[in-house]
Amino acid sequence: MSIHLEHLLADLLNTPASAPSGPVLWIVDESLTERELLVARARPDLYVLTNRLDLGARLNAAGLQVTVSDFDFASLPVQQFAAVVYRVSKERPLVHHCINESYRHLLADGALHLVGSKDDGIRTHGRNAEQVFGTPEHAKKQGDVYRVSLLRGEETGEDGVQWLDCKEYSQLRPCTVGELHFISKPGVFGWNKVDRGSVLLVEEAHKLITQRKNAGTVLDLGCGYGYLLLATADIPFSGRWATDNNAAAVQAAQASFARAQLAVHVSLDDCGEHLQERFDLILCNPPFHQGFSTSNALAVKFLTQIRRLLAPNGRALVVVNQFIALEKAAEESFSKITTLTQAQGFKVVQLG
Ligand SMILES: C[S@@+](CC[C@H](N)C(=O)[O-])C[C@H]1O[C@@H](n2cnc3c(N)ncnc32)[C@H](O)[C@@H]1O
Repeated sequence: MSIHLEHLLADLLNTPASAPSGPVLWIVDESLTERELLVARARPDLYVLTNRLDLGARLNAAGLQVTVSDFDFASLPVQQFAAVVYRVSKERPLVHHCINESYRHLLADGALHLVGSKDDGIRTHGRNAEQVFGTPEHAKKQGDVYRVSLLRGEETGEDGVQWLDCKEYSQLRPCTVGELHFISKPGVFGWNKVDRGSVLLVEEAHKLITQRKNAGTVLDLGCGYGYLLLATADIPFSGRWATDNNAAAVQAAQASFARAQLAVHVSLDDCGEHLQERFDLILCNPPFHQGFSTSNALAVKFLTQIRRLLAPNGRALVVVNQFIALEKAAEESFSKITTLTQAQGFKVVQLG
């Protein structure tokens, strides 16, 4: 399937847009594989919009012009496009947001090209996009993947456009789960929920800290909307840091900590690689729940950074699915590896 997707993307991205000619926008998120990311050849009229700093850096290194933001089209250096290319995202509000915004930012006769498989809901997204564009979709199947194209008509006004419900994608909003209050939005990991693995991690952090007199500094590596530091706000850390590679997560975390009046240094970074500080405690619920074999490089990157970021005698608590062989993978970088607890399909591993 990915071979066909690669070909479709390569065709769309490496051929200058025709009728009208003009800049092309490529919307990129983490649903693209490494190989799919590499298909585009740099050219002056090709622009990339992504919410992920690491993907942006990789495309930038390949010579592409990249803007990293929470899919904020106003942040782009060019505002009108002859074509937009988009491998549909997993989250529906985000897909709707990108379809609406593409319509707003297409030149007359410009085209939105959606690509994806049936499992991505591409056919439904195509039909929904018809509602906005007011013109029929053109769907083309190649292997298991579809390219669905929609043309923006001559009429440039937006009166009467039937926008898709994107649940106000761009808006941060207050959320409450049990006793916990936070600020979040679609586009952030589990944006209005509390992850069970994270709850287990926080329980272990509380147990660990009561055994220590000085709580020292703490880092949440991959912070999402900020759950781990909000739920450990009662621990008297001497300083708090949080980082994530997702522009939406960083915005949400900053707003959550401000609401809780918790002083936290928040940064947009790839695995905290630009952090110069060293931490007594690192809390991490990493993004490789889906399994190790497929995202081994990501696991290695997280473990390498955790090693670098730990202060002498510092400890990291990492929560993963029980079937993930984190202990084995950590052997190269850590001398002390202890599985602290296993429950509800998760385990918390202490590294030092
Ligand atoms: C499982 S979520 C945990 C979120 C939050 N700490 C919690 O407990 O609810 C993993 C987080 O890692 C972030 N992430 C993924 N890749 C990353 C990277 N290369 N650098 C930093 N953060 C990353 C994701 O955006 C996501 O917010």
